Amino acid sequence: MRKELFLVTLCMMFLSCAEEGNDTSVQIIPAPSEVALTGKMVAFDKLTARKLVIDKSMPEEAYELRVSRGKISIKAGGEAGLFYAQQSIEQERQAYGDSLKVGRITDAPRFEWRGVMLDESRHFFGKETVKSLLDMMARYKLNKLHWHLTDSPGWRLEIKQYPLLTEVGGKGTHSNPDVPAAFYTQDDIREILAYAEARHIMVIPEIDMPGHAAAANRAYPEYSGGGSKKHPDFTFNPGKEETYVYLTNILKEVVQLFPAPYIHIGGDEVFFGTDDWDTDQAIQQLIADKKLDGKKGVERYFIERMDSVVHSLGKTLIGWDDVAEFNIDFERDIACWWHHNMPERLTHLYEKKMSVVLTPRMPMYFDYRQNESHKYGMRHWGTVTLDNVYAFPQDSVLAPTTKGLEACVWTEFIPDVKRLDYMVYPRLPAMAEAAWTDKARKHFDDFLLRLKREMVYYDSKGINYYQYFSPEGQEEPAPTLNDVFKD
Ligand code: ACM
Repeated sequence: MRKELFLVTLCMMFLSCAEEGNDTSVQIIPAPSEVALTGKMVAFDKLTARKLVIDKSMPEEAYELRVSRGKISIKAGGEAGLFYAQQSIEQERQAYGDSLKVGRITDAPRFEWRGVMLDESRHFFGKETVKSLLDMMARYKLNKLHWHLTDSPGWRLEIKQYPLLTEVGGKGTHSNPDVPAAFYTQDDIREILAYAEARHIMVIPEIDMPGHAAAANRAYPEYSGGGSKKHPDFTFNPGKEETYVYLTNILKEVVQLFPAPYIHIGGDEVFFGTDDWDTDQAIQQLIADKKLDGKKGVERYFIERMDSVVHSLGKTLIGWDDVAEFNIDFERDIACWWHHNMPERLTHLYEKKMSVVLTPRMPMYFDYRQNESHKYGMRHWGTVTLDNVYAFPQDSVLAPTTKGLEACVWTEFIPDVKRLDYMVYPRLPAMAEAAWTDKARKHFDDFLLRLKREMVYYDSKGINYYQYFSPEGQEEPAPTLNDVFKD
């Protein structure tokens, strides 16, 4: 045993000696802005003089890390910058046998919004999985969790005034409508919010409306606007005054719970379920009373009204890009541009000076397959490969009001953690580097070198990542419903 330990130590000494003086790269993902290292290393516990300084003249998330023979000093714009410096230190220590490289690292993000969207309506993962995701987001300096908590398969957020939302609406998943109710209590939410806050991650809830509402409508059918044959009870009813009271009451509880300055109200794909609007009395009455332009006019009325509700609650509205068809508060609100096949919509958002989070299906939807050889996963629009994720965003999708990027983890076909890991890693670090690192500093080959080493960390954590470098023999975790992949 002792002999083994001696050999391991000798090996490590040899390795660190071998690296001394010549390797001035650094094992940090996302790659920092500026790296000026000597190539020498110093054991972390030898750095006895430690200095932390907040320098308000720097951006909040920026930091500078200096390591010399006996001293480590961190200067940062704020607590977030200090935290990110620690993340960089942690990654170095893990990679270099508890040592750091001597020299200076200066770092700051390219984009202010570096997000992940997690859909827990279609499948529910629970607190521990969300915390693990938050840990990995923090590791990669990602700072926004957009939490898709409501949709047709299940309502996952306790609302005290309307308990059936979770008792009834929380039942079922995309794979199985009969599983018992699964959801977050408000105490669970507070626990997760505290966990996220400690990692400098803002959590933005999404309460999808007026579409994607079938779970809520199972609980409170009196607010249903019906749907279509394929998507029954898909919408809330924009024709009823009571619907606005109901949704406002829900949002009031959401506002109490989530400190983020934003509420995401979805607003996507309403047309999936508006067939019944043609015959709904309240909706037809609304069209007549307000002289609305048919069903599109009803959707417009609903979104514009909810925009005012969100503002009256002191929050900024976020919506999928569908909402920008209407007269919302463009200069205040934020759109998630997901229609990659509609660049003209992005142009429209930018012309309106709207803040945009880039979430295009290609290449920000992580429910898509990451390799053509994969059997399972979305495939309609193509494949979301690691290099596509890394290369994003091209200059053509950027404008002064671009806020940043967000990877969207839709979970129709992600029923468990094993498959979740497989779809998220290693695309998440690629996306994080795309969101953090300046274009001039991004080099895919260099990223791959660091990624290879990062996978040692994944192994140590038991993360079931897609083995990008050696996929042969790796089992592809299957979703529950195999038959949906016939296309
Ligand atoms: C979406 O994919 N429906 C935003």
